[in-house]
Amino acid sequence: MNLSTKVAIVTGSGRGIGRAIALKLAEVGATVVVNDVGDAKPVEAVAGEIKAMGRECLPVMADVSLSSDVARLVEETLAAYGRIDILVNNAGINRDQLLLRMSEEDWDKVLAVDLKSVFLCTKAVLRHMAKQRWGRIISISSIVGIMGNKGQANYAAAKAGIIGFTRTIAKEVASHGVTVNAVAPGFIDTEMTQRLKEEWKQELKRHIPLGDFGSPRDVAEAVAFLASEEAKYITGQVLGVDGGM
Ligand SMILES: NC(=O)c1ccc[n+]([C@@H]2O[C@H](COP(=O)([O-])OP(=O)(O)OC[C@H]3O[C@@H](n4cnc5c(N)ncnc54)[C@H](O)[C@@H]3O)[C@@H](O)[C@H]2O)c1
Repeated sequence: MNLSTKVAIVTGSGRGIGRAIALKLAEVGATVVVNDVGDAKPVEAVAGEIKAMGRECLPVMADVSLSSDVARLVEETLAAYGRIDILVNNAGINRDQLLLRMSEEDWDKVLAVDLKSVFLCTKAVLRHMAKQRWGRIISISSIVGIMGNKGQANYAAAKAGIIGFTRTIAKEVASHGVTVNAVAPGFIDTEMTQRLKEEWKQELKRHIPLGDFGSPRDVAEAVAFLASEEAKYITGQVLGVDGGM
């Protein structure tokens, strides 16, 4: 796997799965645009790690649920490197609550960050990828978008939405040399899942055939494969990284 001529944007890559994806893509040679929202320090730290590997890296703070921020993210990437080859739609949040207690605000916020961002970022990079007749779009869905999960109606709807979006855009852009796939992690050990109660985590693990939560690196390996030349005949797919769930 060699991505040394490629430029990748990884959204929400200041920590967790996004950080692991940014580091993995850099490891196989890619130039990486690291993005997050809020605190710039973690993003700069990831950028520092990538530069220490001898790779190019640009940190860009942007809220990917806002079209103006997404436009700036793409403009800054093009200004720095003149191309965009890989987009990883990773940024995501959850605001869990049983439906009867879920506020409209929490519904809207999760749909905006987890699903609208995928529409905005994909649309913003597509023209550039189509022009160069090569592109890889990989979005991080979730097993919750496939199976559902109590207390996560907003999150499950957004993650299921990513799957429908992925399968549709894959068909729309196949003739332009752009592949569009999703990765659906199961339960991965990050800050998102570290918030779960210990007894609930033990209960979840009983339902994972491989017996434990995955690591961010496990997801990153799957993303790097889908981003590679070797995956050129794979599009419109959802790859589970879920320990067999
Ligand atoms: N951890 C899991 O078990 C798991 C399972 C399935 C899917 N996922 C998905 O994987 C992705 C990464 O999850 P994680 O576990 O690393 O979570 P995380 O909370 O550790 O990291 C998410 C990152 O996204 C950033 N982010 C949030 N809103 C943003 C915005 N508007 N613009 C830019 N960046 C933003 C956050 O600041 C954070 O750095 C998410 O889409 C999540 O839904 C996670």
